[in-house]
Amino acid sequence: MKLTAEEQQMLDGAQGRATQKAMEILVALGTIYAAERMVPVTSVQIAGVSYDNLGEAGLHWLSEMADGGGKTRVFTTLNPAGMDIENWQALGISEDFARNQMRVIDAFAQMNVVTTCSCTPYLIGNTPHYGQHIAWSESSAVCYANSVLGARSNREGGPSALAVALTGVTPEYGLHLEANRRPGVTLHVAAKLPDNNDFGALGVVIGQKLEQFKEKPIAYITGVDQASVEQLKSFCASVATYGGAALFHLRGITPEADHYAAPDESLAITQADLDEAQQSLSSAESDEADFVSLGCPHLTLNEIARIAELLAGKRVTKEFWITTARPIKQMADRMGYTRLIEAAGAKFAADTCCVVAPIKGRFKALITDSAKACYYASGKNKFKTIILPFDEVVLAALA
Ligand code: F3S
Repeated sequence: MKLTAEEQQMLDGAQGRATQKAMEILVALGTIYAAERMVPVTSVQIAGVSYDNLGEAGLHWLSEMADGGGKTRVFTTLNPAGMDIENWQALGISEDFARNQMRVIDAFAQMNVVTTCSCTPYLIGNTPHYGQHIAWSESSAVCYANSVLGARSNREGGPSALAVALTGVTPEYGLHLEANRRPGVTLHVAAKLPDNNDFGALGVVIGQKLEQFKEKPIAYITGVDQASVEQLKSFCASVATYGGAALFHLRGITPEADHYAAPDESLAITQADLDEAQQSLSSAESDEADFVSLGCPHLTLNEIARIAELLAGKRVTKEFWITTARPIKQMADRMGYTRLIEAAGAKFAADTCCVVAPIKGRFKALITDSAKACYYASGKNKFKTIILPFDEVVLAALA
């Protein structure tokens, strides 16, 4: 790789041990992927924050980077932690876990990472614009940034994202290059998509269809007339989980779709495909459900307003977590939504989510509107699952 004088200095250790280690990681990645040079980035999002996933080994590495003088050179935010940082006791998190989780947060803070703890950085100020190079490591957010915002990110891991944060540059390969953003297959959707869970099911179907190809092409999706921010974040989370997708083009909606003609190779997606996917995501009977969660990815303020409206004056009968970013929760506080929701017995779980919190085996069955949450609730946390439209999830918490 051709490095600038400053990049070479970082690699040689002239800018501290942590920066050197970071540059070593990036040069190794660039060499593997045949990048010719580094490109400056404007934004980083780091995943791998929950102590439940990191453990002592991960924390040790972070502490080394922090103690080695690592400081961010670009705006850098964090993915959800394993607990609500201000209200972990109410979620049944142990003191031991809370202490270790705070050691993780402190290590990031020492490196000047902004400890947002949200998987929707684009809703709270880490919002890159069209064409900007970024380095994000939350699969749903990477897919959203590339597809909906038109920014350029590979699917980073936590360590490589931190390495980019500490150097300000990333190797130019993959989705940073225009040539790799071209769609390879048209997927025509002939089905209704009224709610978040329908977009989640669409992500499952498209993810599975892309798996048929040896080299997974970028999808060019037609037949979807409209999609809200909430529906797009749900779709991004699902297609990234079930198909490993980091970019798609949605004709009439995403900004790069107009650059391309629909590829000749084409597959149809029918209502029956979507119905089948919805069924595959539900494994529990409704009387088994003892846990309800909305906010995968983290909720918008608009979604929280709707929950407050549905819960006002009522009482939930199951553990119900509302997961969102702290700044969104603060606006919910100001608007009175929090008071209505908490009076109904539901709990805010800001900074965290039902997947990364240490709750494996604590519940029998989860009700959610998120296809991604279904995947990890069963795989990681060993819960059965039921997927429903957003409003019906709230009503199920009351039943
Ligand atoms: Fe976000 Fe947790 Fe879902 S990190 S995308 S709410 S699994």
